[in-house]
This record gives sequence, structure tokens and C-alpha cells, in this order.
Amino acid sequence: MKRIPEPFRIKMVETIRMTTEEDRRQALHVAGHNPFMLASEDVYIDLLTDSGTGAMSDNQWAGMMLGDESYAGSRNYYNLCKAVKHFFNYDLTVPAHQGRGAEQILFPALIERMRTVRGGDKPVFISNYHFDTTAGHIELNGGKAINVLTDKAFDTNTYDPWKGNFDLQALQQVIEQYGSHNIAAIITTVTCNSSGGQPVSMDNMRAVYQIAQNNDIPVVIDSARYCENAYFIKQRDAAYADSSILEIIREMYQYGDMLTMSAKKDPMVNIGGLCCIRDHEALFQAVRTRCVPMEGFVTYGGMAGRDMEALARGLYEGADENFLHYRIGQVEYLGERLRQAGIPIQYPTGGHAVFVDARQLLPHIPSAQFPAQALCNALYVESGVRAVEIGSLLLGRDPETGQQKASDFELMRLTIPRRVYTNDHMDYVADALIAVSKKADQLRGFDFEYEPPVLRHFTAKLKPMG
Ligand code: F0G
Repeated sequence: MKRIPEPFRIKMVETIRMTTEEDRRQALHVAGHNPFMLASEDVYIDLLTDSGTGAMSDNQWAGMMLGDESYAGSRNYYNLCKAVKHFFNYDLTVPAHQGRGAEQILFPALIERMRTVRGGDKPVFISNYHFDTTAGHIELNGGKAINVLTDKAFDTNTYDPWKGNFDLQALQQVIEQYGSHNIAAIITTVTCNSSGGQPVSMDNMRAVYQIAQNNDIPVVIDSARYCENAYFIKQRDAAYADSSILEIIREMYQYGDMLTMSAKKDPMVNIGGLCCIRDHEALFQAVRTRCVPMEGFVTYGGMAGRDMEALARGLYEGADENFLHYRIGQVEYLGERLRQAGIPIQYPTGGHAVFVDARQLLPHIPSAQFPAQALCNALYVESGVRAVEIGSLLLGRDPETGQQKASDFELMRLTIPRRVYTNDHMDYVADALIAVSKKADQLRGFDFEYEPPVLRHFTAKLKPMG
């Protein structure tokens, strides 16, 4: 892909504190060898997440000044509804404070409908891959979350254009096994974060929706990175080469009945989320009913008026084709630099991040000693770059047996915030990781000094082995 330079210029800058290797060793020691526990002041380039870390535009900041902070019926809510209708053609919009806010007001309503309307009693959700909070909300409500991701995603070395796809056969099998009346919903996650920010093809989305319709199961589109997914469809599916991003997005959302969105990613706001429903009034009312006590009144759902305005504008900016071309190109640029140096990554690179395969890079560190965490720590000491472990540490233990769950991946995610870092920063990251990879055989695994009982990766304290 031919890269294009940034389709924006920089009007305001934020100084980053530079640190020495000694500073970083000390900071990591205090943080219990857990980058989540570092103060951001001690981080030079922060690739922990692309969530809420993007830079808003002048247009979004200008929108912040037009916030209507009325408790009910804010004009910014109506602007948001208009933008939702334009892109997704869904009529019913409930704002939420972020993606998990949308999940917590929608999923119980879906489970309730499964029980009362469809006669089910054991709620199951099926996804290409549930994000961890998504699975968390399902489990908190007594449901089971099952992933049916294509096998192709697990072979990180081999190119496949659609490593976010559902395995359609597995999807059918799970529906048969549990009975369609017990399937509360199918969740199509675009792009598929957990497999490496990998896209779902239009054909796959269409086929999933067909299967769902045949079985009377609703489809939720988990929409954190839907613009990036649309861009990949345009790039990789010849049938869409001449379609606009808007046309592609509109077709994608025909293959769903509702959406949840963490608006902190593609629409580039620092906080915000959405739960939108195509036309199902009864479900909309059930979601609104939960919204009031959980998130806030139905026309703000945990967001300030100004934040809804920034989001309404961000929906347009995130879907700009030139922006997406530059954005995906920047991530690919970092991925290519690493690949050329022989560093194993999930290939091809995804939309929002480069996922380094720590299982391959550090074969001497077993999963139980968290190879991707060892890599994150080494990269931080080398350079001040903060990455995040997506592997056994994140996955945790089976709540019933207490045993470590077997992780499909041991990955270090280098997540690129939108419109924040330049390609000089990407070169710095690549050079640092290449330097670390040259001493890979000296890196050691980690063991717990303190292991929290739930969501342990956020606050765990670790110690180096040996
Ligand atoms: N769904 C997906 C696919 C996500 O990646 C996330 C968040 C959520 C839902 C939840 O949204 O954070 O706004 O409540 N992902 C972030 C990440 C945290 O770093 O990948 P949220």
C-alpha cells in the first residue's frame, strides 16, 4: 500500500518527559513490573491503547464550545442521532459513557427477551471474539460467551485478509448445540481486536446475519473500530474497490440489528459510547429503562452535551477515507519495519495496532511465566515505550477450577493512538524493539508477587523469575 503523509497539521503540542534507563528501571520496580501501574509521566511513547487517547480536531474542540448542557433533550443529542442515522441508518440512539456502559444497558435486555419472547433459559452469546469487558458483562448477567473465530487467525505468520472472520461452521454448530432459543445474541466485533485488529469481510458479515435470521437470533455489531474495518473491505475486496467508506459502512450495518460502540476509538473522542437499535421499539424502551439508573437520563447517558457534540463530529472524521488511508498506513509501516527485522507479528498488521508474537520471539519463556509481559517490560526499560500484554496474564484463571486458562495467543500489542504520534515515533519504537529482540534469549519470565482475584492484569505485582 502506498502511504500518504498526515492529512492534518499540528496546531498544539504536548511536551513528553524524557527519562533515562535508570529512571525507567526504578519506575518499573515501583510499578511491580506491571506497565499498567506506571505513571504516564514516566512513559515516553504510550502504546497501551488506542482508546480515548486520540487527538481531537479543531472542529471537535469547536463543537465542545457548543455544548447544550440541558439535563433533558440537549441539542447535541439530536445532532448525535442525526449522525447515527446518516452512517448506520439506525433510528434509535441511546448515548452511554463508553463501550462497556452500552454493554451493561443492552445485554440484560437481550437476555430478558431471550427468556420471555423466545423461551430460552440458558443465555449464550456467540462472537467472532468477545472483547474482555464484553465477555465480562455477559458472565456478570449469568450468560456464557463463546468465540468462534476463524482458525486462520491463530497462524500469525501466514497472510490472510480476513483474520477477524467467524468460522461459520463452528457458529452453526454452537447454535445447534445450545439451541437457538438459548442464544441471546450473536456479536460481530469489527475489527476483531483480540485477533490483532483484524477485519471481518462483508461476505462473512452477510453470512452471519443470514444464519442469525434463519434462527431468529438478534445480531449486535460491536463497533469500536468499524471505520477501519470498512477501509479494509474497500482495500481487500475487489467488489468494494469503487465504493465510498460511507456506502460500505451502511451495508455493514444492514447485517446487524443493533450496535454497541466504544466511541473512544474510531470517532476519536476521549470519552463516549453508543447503543443504537435499528427499529425495535420494545428493545429500545428496555434499554432506555436501564439507562436511567445505570448511565443517566436517556438523552445524555453519562455524557456531557459537549462530549456528545465532539462525538457527532468525530463520527464524520473517523470515516474520512484520506484519514483512514494514512492511519492504516502508519500501523502497517511500523509492522513492516519489524517484519523486515525478523520480528514475528500477527500478519498482516491490523487496523489499530501491531501485535508481536511473544511465543515465537521468546520460546524459552513458558506461558505460565508470561512471555509477552516480559517483552513489554524489556521494551519499556530499553526505550520508555509502553505496550500491553494480550495473553495468559490478561486471560487469567478459570473461576471454577482456579487453573490458568490456556491462551490462544501470547501477544504484545503496540497500540497506535489516532493523530498523536508521527512516523519518527514509529521508527523509534521499531529501533527499540529490534534492539530488545537481539537480546531476546536473555529475557526472563515473571511470577506473581501479588495476584488480584479478578481482572488481575491491571493491578498485579510481578517479580522476575530466578
Ligand atoms: N469492544 C471492543 C472491541 C473493545 O476493544 C473495547 C475496548 C470495548 C468493547 C469496551 O469499550 O473501553 O469504551 O468501555 N477496548 C479498549 C482496548 C479498552 O484497549 O482495546 P470501552
